Amino acid sequence: MSLQHASLETRPDAVDGEVAFWALLGFERADPPATLRERAVWLQRGGSQIHLLLTDEPVAPPLGHVAVTAFDQSGALERLRAAGHEVDERARHWGAPRAFARTPAGHRVEVMAWGPAGRALPLPDPPLRDESILLRPWTLDDVAWVTAACQDPAIVRFTRVPSPYTEAEARGYVLGAAAERATGESLSLAIADARDGDPLGAVGMQRFDWEHGKGDIGYWVAREARGRGAATRATRLLARWAFDALELARVELLAAVINERSQRVAERAGFRREGILRSAWRLKEGRVDMVVFSLLPTDDR
Ligand SMILES: CC(C)(COP(=O)(O)OP(=O)(O)OC[C@H]1O[C@@H](n2cnc3c(N)ncnc32)[C@H](O)[C@@H]1OP(=O)(O)O)[C@@H](O)C(=O)NCCC(=O)NCCS
Repeated sequence: MSLQHASLETRPDAVDGEVAFWALLGFERADPPATLRERAVWLQRGGSQIHLLLTDEPVAPPLGHVAVTAFDQSGALERLRAAGHEVDERARHWGAPRAFARTPAGHRVEVMAWGPAGRALPLPDPPLRDESILLRPWTLDDVAWVTAACQDPAIVRFTRVPSPYTEAEARGYVLGAAAERATGESLSLAIADARDGDPLGAVGMQRFDWEHGKGDIGYWVAREARGRGAATRATRLLARWAFDALELARVELLAAVINERSQRVAERAGFRREGILRSAWRLKEGRVDMVVFSLLPTDDR
């Protein structure tokens, strides 16, 4: 569960300044539902939103504030200063640098490098690659490609990709990948062609359990790029890296019982089938049993 949005009161004539402020922290305008369009302006970064509530007599609580993590916190502070905002750097918590700034309308905003839930996950360095694929971070240049790839019914069926899937969703995914890596929530990478970096699919790790040293791996590959080992190779590369760089003791992979292709990827990547988790996931078509696979650092890889 994560906090979805914070609502801040704003005069209608101050909206542009507020939108420009939040853009420096990676938030972009999103469409509110038609019923709210007259009364609010929405901003979004990944799964988090700021709602500007339009009112002629706004209140900015003196100590109340919105805290956001910034993937590149020092860069974000630099951007705020360059745009003329005062930035007040504070003591670190959990070792995380943090600072306060005010939006033009007077709302206090705390900008943290990461929160108590976790430190930013590192990017594989050097990037993971083999003779056929490489794994790289998503960029905004990938938005159109992700939008097109996620129209595929198999991806919609077996992943959490929403349907209908618009460019706004793809943008949220690409920006959210950096944000979630910054908070330690997930690591999402593009599977790309090793020759030219063109995207082929997605691979990621999430649901980290640091107490027990484990995390989940997941993937999808664009329809036209399937059948050449991209998912298998990406899974193998990322899992092996997670043992070494994140010191995980176990990587789990869940595939729906009805998703035979994904199960073949798991097995081909060296994972062992452990059993069935009954009614473990809700897909768009309803609840399904999941096959649980695992890979340990000591397994043949
Ligand atoms: C499941 C999915 C990711 C597989 O992607 P993929 O890149 O086609 O998978 P791979 O290429 O690694 O394996 C598929 C086939 O390629 C073949 N292949 C070709 N070259 C290969 C190579 N060098 N190494 C491994 N397999 C290779 C495999 O034999 C395999 O054939 P088979 O499935 O008919 O036995 C893809 O079908 C997909 O995106 N599905 C929808 C989303 C989804 O289900 N995600 C998983 C949720 S758990």
